[in-house]
Amino acid sequence: MIEYRNLRIALLGAGSVGSQVARLLLEHGEELAARVGAGLELVGVAVRDLDAPRDSAIPRELLTTDATALIQSADIVIELMGGLEPAREYITLAMNSGADVVTGNKALLATHGPELFAVADQVGAQLYYEAAVGGAIPIIRPLRDSLAGDRVHRVMGIVNGTTNFILDRMDLEGDSFENALAVATELGYAEADPTADVEGFDAAQKAAILASLAFHTVVPVEAVYREGMTTVTAAQVEAAERAGFVVKLLAICERLTDPETGVEGVVARVHPSLISRRHPLAAVHDAKNAVFVQSEAAGDLMFYGAGAGGTETASAVLGDLVSAARRHLAGGPGVGESTHANLPVFPIGAVTTRYQLTLVVTDKPGVLAQIAGLFSEHGVSVEAVQQTVATAPPGRSGDEPLTATLVIVTHEATDAALSATVAAVSSHDAVVRVESVLRVEGETP
Ligand code: NDP
Ligand code: HSE
Repeated sequence: MIEYRNLRIALLGAGSVGSQVARLLLEHGEELAARVGAGLELVGVAVRDLDAPRDSAIPRELLTTDATALIQSADIVIELMGGLEPAREYITLAMNSGADVVTGNKALLATHGPELFAVADQVGAQLYYEAAVGGAIPIIRPLRDSLAGDRVHRVMGIVNGTTNFILDRMDLEGDSFENALAVATELGYAEADPTADVEGFDAAQKAAILASLAFHTVVPVEAVYREGMTTVTAAQVEAAERAGFVVKLLAICERLTDPETGVEGVVARVHPSLISRRHPLAAVHDAKNAVFVQSEAAGDLMFYGAGAGGTETASAVLGDLVSAARRHLAGGPGVGESTHANLPVFPIGAVTTRYQLTLVVTDKPGVLAQIAGLFSEHGVSVEAVQQTVATAPPGRSGDEPLTATLVIVTHEATDAALSATVAAVSSHDAVVRVESVLRVEGETP
């Protein structure tokens, strides 16, 4: 039997992910040791409550509430507590104490990433975070290492499982948002307070991380444009399906040239989008995640899998642990974050996209021409218009005009021009109401 010298592993947190990391580390210890060339000894697990029930049995003697002492005794610290504090303080302490760190904490990285990477750089520590985006899906390492020789243009992802589950159910079962959310909660996908998921905060944190990596630029989470998906209606989803689209909450990070100034920069945004049912992301069902990457040399790549779940996410954490352990043994400084491009981060107005606009208008001569005129005044070209047969609005009196629904899909224009067009259209006399405004990404079906 081969004898390995042990690396001391400290685990902070034994919740959904931490308890599975502890289980797999204890069960597969020998195999991991053979891959690393050193034993990975779990020396302690910091928790808040020593008596809380755990998803997997962790030997009682490993549990501690003294995270500081545990961190100071470790070669590698795995942070799976979540939240900003004390996670930030503990990770900083770990790196300053000579440990490498593995974390899955997207909220922390999206908020304090630059500060933590600066500490890592200063002390020569390694900070790994594969689990922070897309759970089990390898996407951080492909962007950081595999595509380091390429030029990424665009990263477009379904990076929140809860909202994908809800939208998928609305699409396939015809459910309302409220019903689909209730099912997601019952099945344990959605938290008791689903705000972070349905309002797009979770996806925005992941977009900030992906954009920073893809474009070698610090993209703060506050610079990510964010719209949630609580306003998506069953009628919108059904209309999208009829037109060959599906509604997805997408995190889109792209490199672009500002049309006004010619300056190159990046934009990161999260919002409900229409994509063709033929797009690879349209085939991402249930609570699955996927990230579609477009780069200059490699072309289109897609990474797909479980975006959450204790065991699934533990796979990404343990992959990082093996990398961190190998580097710890080899010595030398960690690989720093690459932010050399330092591109400006533009607001969403600079993005070139397309809109699908659904309007209820009074059915009078000239209305269509007047609406079309507003598009042309803003330099927005219309790709297609569909008009439903005019009907009587509910409670119509004798001389009141009939109303018709117009579905207008534009050609590409800047988001600034498109949103100005929507504002002008909304205040036109003949427009009874704007039923829906959705961005369209990619081809028309
Ligand atoms: P949980 O809420 O299930 O678990 C958190 C754990 O951290 C608990 O064991 C808790 O202790 C412990 N903890 C919290 N605060 C402290 C503290 N101050 N001191 C010591 N221990 C503390 O979280 P998850 O496992 O779901 O998530 C962990 C991290 O992984 C988060 O950053 C999350 O964003 C990320 N992640 C999670 C995914 C998932 O599917 N769940 C997917 C991808 C990433 P106690 O048990 O005693 O309360
Ligand atoms: N709440 C997240 C989701 C968990 O639904 O995808 C993983 O970050």
